Amino acid sequence: MTLLNKTAVGTAHGKIILIGEHAVVYNMPAIALPFMATTTTVTITSIEGETFIDSDYFTGYLSETPEALDGFKTALNNVCVYLNVSAQGLHIDVESLIPPERGMGSSAAVATALVKALFNYFEADLTDKIVKRFVDTAEKVTHGNPSGIDSTIVNSLSPIYFKKDESPTSLPLDMDGFLIAADTGIKGQTKEAVGDVAKLIQSAKDQAKNQTISAVNRIGQLTFQAKDAIIDNNVPILGEIMNQTHRLLKDLTVSNRQLDTLVQSALKAGAAGAKLTGGGRGGCMIALAHSMEHAKKIASELEKAGAIQTWIHPLQAEVGEAFHE
Ligand code: PMV
Repeated sequence: MTLLNKTAVGTAHGKIILIGEHAVVYNMPAIALPFMATTTTVTITSIEGETFIDSDYFTGYLSETPEALDGFKTALNNVCVYLNVSAQGLHIDVESLIPPERGMGSSAAVATALVKALFNYFEADLTDKIVKRFVDTAEKVTHGNPSGIDSTIVNSLSPIYFKKDESPTSLPLDMDGFLIAADTGIKGQTKEAVGDVAKLIQSAKDQAKNQTISAVNRIGQLTFQAKDAIIDNNVPILGEIMNQTHRLLKDLTVSNRQLDTLVQSALKAGAAGAKLTGGGRGGCMIALAHSMEHAKKIASELEKAGAIQTWIHPLQAEVGEAFHE
């Protein structure tokens, strides 16, 4: 394969959903943070012949990609149709530090970086709104019924308060606290978890049982309170809200044994609060600590309890540029 001269790059980053996952699909609010410790870079170089993908997940020709890359392929084809260019003759290199299928926004970040790289490569103007449109379509293929939170936050430099079908607002974050994110090492199952919550809600409606519906509404109320706790720099209250939310997510059947074990060990190590993050049934959890020293202790306990990787994220975000409509 001969690499030709032309090269273009696109980037995006991972995300942490602080609160509101799953309920956000049902028009409740959610709060998410850009997770700059995990980034994705897509580099496109011209080649002769069929488009070739080079990534940790898959290396080979576009015509041979596994089903898991159908969303990626959708983004590629849709952008090329939109720009009226060929989807062939591209060498697409994907370098991602975001662990895939762990509730950290990997699929949305890779699709975002790809769309940005393609527009750069074909020297076309791009707005955040256009990126999101292509990524949302790709995410529908990957996840079934996405709320759009992932496609927004992986391209936002600011934390956001998000509601489906509304413009996100950026949320100033200046708390005396640190988040620890821990990876169970087990692939999350966002599509299945979102599908099962939909079935629970449907059967709750059919049986006039409102327990599931009230769990979703309660997560919405807690998210609203979490926003106030963030603005008031109230770490203990935010921690308690996280604990209550984890219990509600368990009621929605989206936790699992490994996530519950890590949540328990974080609390035992003195965390102010802990919960799963993202789609659940695997993937990652988060815990809240009062200081960096405390965060390091919790991270070490989480690793002893089975986490394969941990990250510490300050809750003093520089307010970067929010997503632009
Ligand atoms: O697992 P992730 O990173 O794709 O997070 C999904 C968040 C959900 O609320 C479960 C689904 C959604 O589209 O909002």
